[in-house]
Amino acid sequence: MKKQIVANWKMNTARAQAVALVNALKAKAGQGSPHFDLVICPPFVWLADCASLVAGSAMGLGAQDCHAAEKGAYTGDISAPMLKELGCSYVILGHSERRQHHQESSILVKEKATQAIKNGLVPIICVGEVEAERAIGQQEVIVARQLDQSIPDTGRFYIAYEPVWAIGTGKPPSLEDIRIMHDFIRNRIDPSRGVAILYGGSVKVSNAREILATKNVDGVLVGGASLDAEEFWGIAQASPTHKG
Ligand code: 13P
Repeated sequence: MKKQIVANWKMNTARAQAVALVNALKAKAGQGSPHFDLVICPPFVWLADCASLVAGSAMGLGAQDCHAAEKGAYTGDISAPMLKELGCSYVILGHSERRQHHQESSILVKEKATQAIKNGLVPIICVGEVEAERAIGQQEVIVARQLDQSIPDTGRFYIAYEPVWAIGTGKPPSLEDIRIMHDFIRNRIDPSRGVAILYGGSVKVSNAREILATKNVDGVLVGGASLDAEEFWGIAQASPTHKG
């Protein structure tokens, strides 16, 4: 499987910056790579601009959230059909920042993922423990519960393992800890579902090569470092060139 290199811009970029970032990546990415796929997840308000720029290129487009309902009286929310119509193929769901700041539960994440799949989107479902949970060795218990409660019953999806304490801190887990958790996640999910398991949390050019070479790491979900085209491209290029 090609490595999935996904940019989560979060609530960053002015419009001109978003356009410049996509254009810079498009110029580098050309017709694509046999080793990796690039996906960008801009803020909702720039999705339409980005969609027209990535159209016809090898880059994929994703959103950072969607509502669990197809439509209705949900002021300020965005539905999966709207994202699909805009040209999205992916949607990040259950990011720890949404779990924390919007009190999103795994049950809700599953409802959103189900709606996303119904509308032809691939949900990228985020899981991960907080620092206090790892400190007492509970990371696998936490991640198992998040997986069991948030994985949709049918359809294609990705998992992003993002230990909360590694997000934006410059301190990713050791490669051994990443390997152990990715093995755990792989074993927890029915192999017939062919899930891609991404790692996220302080991925940079300087650590991408070894993270992407770690067993059961099918790609990365990149926050801060995805806001710089050179840095993000460098991360993509750190994908192993051999098969497996
Ligand atoms: P950073 O790459 O900034 O640590 O953020 C990771 C993340 O939350 C991606 O979703």
